[in-house]
Amino acid sequence: MNITDAITQRRTIRKYKQHKIPKDILKNLVNAARLAPSATNKQPLEYVVVDNKQLVDSIFEQVSWASYIAPRGTPSEGEKPTAFILILIKKELKASYTYHDIGAAAENIMLQAEEYDIGCCWIGSLNKKKVREILNVPPEYELDTIIAIGYKDEESEYYDSDETVKYDKINGKYKVPKRKLETITHFNAF
Ligand SMILES: Cc1cc2nc3c(=O)[nH]c(=O)nc-3n(C[C@H](O)[C@H](O)[C@H](O)COP(=O)(O)O)c2cc1C
Repeated sequence: MNITDAITQRRTIRKYKQHKIPKDILKNLVNAARLAPSATNKQPLEYVVVDNKQLVDSIFEQVSWASYIAPRGTPSEGEKPTAFILILIKKELKASYTYHDIGAAAENIMLQAEEYDIGCCWIGSLNKKKVREILNVPPEYELDTIIAIGYKDEESEYYDSDETVKYDKINGKYKVPKRKLETITHFNAF
């Protein structure tokens, strides 16, 4: 898959086939995060990969899905993610640019996933306290966000729009508005 296809096709996926993702592929997703740019190359991020079904189901209870179309955007039984990757910050390595590092790492994970037809949903809306407890995250680490993962079981596409930012699901397919290129691009001067 070329890079343009990965960037264009990657859309948030919230319904997943139920077959497990091989461990090597999960490791490869973390490797993609590992190789992302990092300010002053501090590399403050670590990852917890969760693919044990019981644990995945427990974490599922602590996250919120598709706020614009809740509750119909929430995966039902048989559509839930089969894995999660937690993004952790090692506090002693945290710097002012760490959240930029997280953006680069998370996007690398999601683009790498495209190669395997794996869909992701980056999730910021979660009960961090509970997730930390479930997975025994030590106090030396900050839990930032998590990424839900599974083989894609729904479709999503973007369209150009300056009218709305609200995605919707129409005939079972996500339609995701993206601000127009000419609106957001300023050449040489604003
Ligand atoms: C930092 C961040 C946090 C997000 N948190 C959630 C979330 O809690 N639940 C959810 O369903 N989607 C979440 N999303 C996914 C966005 O809704 C999605 O990226 C957006 O609608 C654009 O769709 P696209 O990813 O297909 O381009 C999050 C995305 C980002 C970047």
